Amino acid sequence: MKLISRITGTGHYVPPLTVTNFDLEKEMDTSDEWIRKRTGIRERHYVKPGVGSSDLAYEASKIAIRDAEIKKDDIEFIIAATLSPDHYFPGIGVIVQSKLGLAGIGALDVRNQCSGFLYALSVADQYIKTGKYKKILVVAAEVQSTNLDYSDEGRHVAVLFGDGGAAAVIEATDKEENRGILSTHLFSDGNYVQKLWMETPSPKEKPTFSYDMIDTKRCFPKMEGKHVFVNAVENMPKAVWAALEHNNMTIDDVDHLIPHQANDRISLMVAKKLGIPVPKVIRNIDRFGNTTAASIPIALDESIKNGRIKKGDIIVLTAFGSGYTWASALMRW
Ligand code: ACO
Repeated sequence: MKLISRITGTGHYVPPLTVTNFDLEKEMDTSDEWIRKRTGIRERHYVKPGVGSSDLAYEASKIAIRDAEIKKDDIEFIIAATLSPDHYFPGIGVIVQSKLGLAGIGALDVRNQCSGFLYALSVADQYIKTGKYKKILVVAAEVQSTNLDYSDEGRHVAVLFGDGGAAAVIEATDKEENRGILSTHLFSDGNYVQKLWMETPSPKEKPTFSYDMIDTKRCFPKMEGKHVFVNAVENMPKAVWAALEHNNMTIDDVDHLIPHQANDRISLMVAKKLGIPVPKVIRNIDRFGNTTAASIPIALDESIKNGRIKKGDIIVLTAFGSGYTWASALMRW
């Protein structure tokens, strides 16, 4: 029997504190109008001190497991994606595992930034298809708000990001059903590491952590916004075209496009390039900001729960982010 992986449960969790563009106006020289016009963002969520990405991941995972109508002990493997782990090491996979009370099973950490969820989903898909595991928890979560440069110098980055987490339970199902993940495609180009990165702390330097890193602001995420914009708009459609070609489909077959919520202008330009009508594009960046690895699964969970995504729909997910990395996943819901 051929196996296919299917997402059988989803969940998302964002911290209760909402930070509007007007709140940010009080912190730096910016305006609600500038942020909305350039990014589509109105508000985002921030954690309170003491809350890490593993906490958001844990909350989202509980919801996804409940949604899948399985027992948590049925989970055989965890894949966690984040660029903002609670600690330098270990990653959050084992922390989520411990919080769920699942000591003993494997926990893998994925470090592919905005593409992290799709990379994680792809790994889960391969494990399911080879029969290694039958139930995998894929979780993505980010706490960005605690390490952004809120000065005027960093404002083009600081206004973009929000905190949040989302999870999906991936299960093996019989291929005859013909529902589930039909393909994943992963890409990267490491020539552009420095276009979107957090340079330090770095074991390449001695010491790994220093006051100089703070003084020179090399400890904050840095981004060449226009370079990121151009490459995102170029590569996300390519990832979608790879998915369509692989599945012998055209863009007309797609019911929903879920792009990584990096910036609403990027999502709209990707849609235009693909020739997909805007109503088919799922966009929630106005309320969450850019939650990096968590953005796609948050959008997916919202759209399932609000009834927008229906059984049998064709969904294409696509991401682009630091690395650069980009990816797609095509599924029949
Ligand atoms: N508020 C007010 N003014 C600002 C702000 C701000 N938050 N940020 C920048 N500006 C000013 C700049 O100082 C500059 O002023 P000047 O013309 O007087 O010098 C002006 O606005 C234009 O600045 P740019 O940085 O050139 O702005 P740009 O038009 O490139 O827009 C943006 C910045 C929105 C970040 C854009 O480059 C972009 O969308 N890039 C894509 C990157 C992205 O979305 N990344 C998401 C994270 S990465 C990912 O998820 C893939």
